[in-house]
Amino acid sequence: MKNVAVYPGSFDPITNGHVDIINRGLRIFEKIIVAVLENPKKKPLFSTKKRVAMINSIYQNEKNVEVKAFEGLLVEFAKKNKAKIVMRGLRAISDFEYEFQMALMNKKLDSKIETFFMVPSLQYSFLSSKLVKEVGMLGGSLSGLIAPQIEKNIMEKFKKNKKIYNMKKG
Ligand code: PNS
Repeated sequence: MKNVAVYPGSFDPITNGHVDIINRGLRIFEKIIVAVLENPKKKPLFSTKKRVAMINSIYQNEKNVEVKAFEGLLVEFAKKNKAKIVMRGLRAISDFEYEFQMALMNKKLDSKIETFFMVPSLQYSFLSSKLVKEVGMLGGSLSGLIAPQIEKNIMEKFKKNKKIYNMKKG
């Protein structure tokens, strides 16, 4: 297969902004491999296994989307999966510097890799996993921002944390 893109990220958790990029990417690429970063240095809210499962819950009937965990260099993962394109969403000027550095570093590591940037749909241009977690933690509505089953996962996670917090408070 020729036209394979890797869409890497932390996806902690996947938001509707990510889903928007994947769905629009499917109009361009024959297959998208969603690559979930397993980074022992980061402390994600959800385990890698859970993050992969949450993305699979959205794409279980989409044969052109595959979800895999990865660690180490992204270019190695791309090579192993026969992909020459890295797809990334670019939200705002604040994203630009980091994305620019990553794209150039990946190019330096493997000159065959091309980074393909997509601008999010307007309604998701402010959205991030970080904000979703913050709003969820503070009990705000996440409706329209993440898939309902994932909202449930977030609520459960914070309910548990609240219990522990209240126990600690005595
Ligand atoms: O969703 P994120 O956290 O912005 O995704 C960052 C990600 C996973 C794309 C980036 O951290 C990554 O590619 N990590 C793999 C390590 C790597 O290849 N580093 C060198 C190139 S910058």
